[in-house]
Amino acid sequence: MEVHALQDRRPGAPRKRMLASPVPAEGENGLFSQSWFPICLATDIPKGKVIGRPFLDGRVVAFRGDDGIARVMSAYCPHMGADLSIGTVVGNNVQCAFHKWEMNGDGWCEKTGVGDPAPKNACVYAFPVQERWGVVFAFNGDTPTWDLPNFRYPDDELLVSVSPRIDFSADPWVFAANTPDAAHLLTVHGLEGNPFVPEEDINWFEHGFMYHSEWLHWGDKKLDWDIGIYGTSLFIQDGTLDGQWFGLAAPFGMPEPGKSFSYFINVVHKGDGSDRSELRAKEWLRVSTNLEITFGTQDLDILNGIHYRPGSMTRSDKFLAKFLDYLRAYPRAHPSADFIR
Ligand code: FES
Ligand SMILES: [Fe+2]
Repeated sequence: MEVHALQDRRPGAPRKRMLASPVPAEGENGLFSQSWFPICLATDIPKGKVIGRPFLDGRVVAFRGDDGIARVMSAYCPHMGADLSIGTVVGNNVQCAFHKWEMNGDGWCEKTGVGDPAPKNACVYAFPVQERWGVVFAFNGDTPTWDLPNFRYPDDELLVSVSPRIDFSADPWVFAANTPDAAHLLTVHGLEGNPFVPEEDINWFEHGFMYHSEWLHWGDKKLDWDIGIYGTSLFIQDGTLDGQWFGLAAPFGMPEPGKSFSYFINVVHKGDGSDRSELRAKEWLRVSTNLEITFGTQDLDILNGIHYRPGSMTRSDKFLAKFLDYLRAYPRAHPSADFIR
């Protein structure tokens, strides 16, 4: 007989909220998770252009010099703090609009506007940068601790479509926690399958996990995919619907605590290069992109308003519970703090 359950629910019995320890919020104690975050689209910075963006509760500039390399640096000039996003790209340097100091590709001041020698220590913070799938990423840290993952096909065999920026009102890890939350695939997305994910289906590694699962979607179509999270900010999916391959990378940006944004990067295989296969690939990219947009939209209202507090859990939450532990222990730092504010 379930005496305890009955006793707990007697009218007038005290109620106690069951709460596990919280996941640290981004920005808590001035720290952010050490992860790759998207900054802007590659097309936002053609050669010779500099733009400003909020990042890690501060401000950075992204620019591209003559060498074609995308760079991300703290936005405030080491001289008097002018915003470098209103400056100019000169060669591979960014030049401040105020007294024309020039910072080189590594962030060091190379020259001043009036001919004084550049002070030895004058620099901005230069973030590690990667450009993949049409998006510019910066790592929160002096040295990246992990690399952006690959799809099962090399990038040059992919047809890629990148969505416009989508803004959210939650930290990136809140969206990341959606992936090990297999139960919600049934309750929110309407997939059919087993929400209990056995340990052996999950491949945990130091900075993330991938797991293999099979579902039924759209009534009878088999969804057979590997999905996972890298760091705290990148969702990746690689699998087939009804035997046809498609992939998605959804990186989540970190402009300020409690906010994020994403670009949904949808990919399909280009095919054999013939006109017919190109047409087919384009159509499949359109269909699979719509599928992902539907998935994303279904999560949106829930995650935008959530006060993410792990409470009572069941057997199907085991994977999620382990991921929440991973998040609690995830390395956090803010080495650019003195530069970007
Ligand atoms: S504030 Fe940038 S050069 Fe003076
Ligand atoms: Fe979801």
